[in-house]
Amino acid sequence: MTTTAASAVPVLDVRNLKTGFHTERGWVTAVDDISISIEAGKTLGLVGESGCGKSVTGYSLMRLIASPGRIAGGEVLVEGVDLLKLSEKQMRQYRGGRIAMVFQEPMTSLDPLYMVQDPLLETLAIHRGIRGAAARREAESLLEQVAIPGAARRLTSYPHQFSGGMRQRILIATALAGKPRVLVADEPTTALDVTVQAQILALLRQLQSETGTAILLITHNLGIVAENCHHVAVMYAGRIVERAPVRNLFDRPSHPYTRGLLAAIPGPLTTPRTLLPAIPGTVPSLHNLPSGCRFRNRCSMAAARCAQEVPLLRELGPGHFAACHFAD
Ligand SMILES: Nc1ncnc2c1ncn2[C@@H]1O[C@H](COP(=O)(O)OP(=O)(O)O)[C@@H](O)[C@H]1O
Ligand SMILES: [Mg+2]
Repeated sequence: MTTTAASAVPVLDVRNLKTGFHTERGWVTAVDDISISIEAGKTLGLVGESGCGKSVTGYSLMRLIASPGRIAGGEVLVEGVDLLKLSEKQMRQYRGGRIAMVFQEPMTSLDPLYMVQDPLLETLAIHRGIRGAAARREAESLLEQVAIPGAARRLTSYPHQFSGGMRQRILIATALAGKPRVLVADEPTTALDVTVQAQILALLRQLQSETGTAILLITHNLGIVAENCHHVAVMYAGRIVERAPVRNLFDRPSHPYTRGLLAAIPGPLTTPRTLLPAIPGTVPSLHNLPSGCRFRNRCSMAAARCAQEVPLLRELGPGHFAACHFAD
């Protein structure tokens, strides 16, 4: 290995994470034994269809899984500290500080009753010990960084006075206020139009280059992954089925599920969206998962072995792993 010592230590190292829910029909495991890691200044894209467990993964990293849910096992190491071993009091020092999250719903995750500055000032006080006039100056500078015009005046505005794109910028500023080492961004631009989406992602890349924050970018959009991520993890029915540096994933997708997702991207040279080959069928219910490979009932390559043996992640090339019996 020729990697340097500095780049070899991941800022975020998730090992064998398992999260599930008690339901009326019994216990279901929504995140099943996943391992991912991200180095400083890098972005890992977490992709997969709706219901695959991406958000539950994000909430688990923040330790925001509430009853009837529970993190059932694994480790979430942030700069070597296992968040799952901290007391709730210690966790409050980490959450919003060393690890922060931009949530999926930009319209609902700002409280309409609070001024823009309220969560910003709170984060600055709790996580950076900055108060009073200095805090207001810092809050203003954060809003400037996310390109909110007239930042000083806007601190005392309310969320309804902003457009969706501006609200998402404010959420990003608030998430960055604690100078997090790890940022979980759950579909941060899905609700926004394409132009605003591109601006916000460019902004995140720029801020990341200044701060070295490790970003987990959750999205179902592979176009966004191609432009914003260094590595990709593909999730299916609670498991990581493929993990690779971004170029390798697009050049040599190895899991049939990944290939299906890639085939569904509309591009200038492909047929219109409505004619694209979609992956047949739907994500299975967690109550009724197929034996062996969870993707097998939607897979054109499925054979008898796929029902009998759970495919484990195998390394097919440097840093490129896939969980399919027929990946090579
Ligand atoms: N509170 C809950 N109770 C039971 N199941 C849940 C709960 N929250 C999420 N799940 C299940 O966990 C799975 C993963 O959900 P989620 O992480 O939101 O998917 P994604 O973000 O990939 O669309 C889904 O099957 C969902 O039904
Ligand atoms: Mg989600």
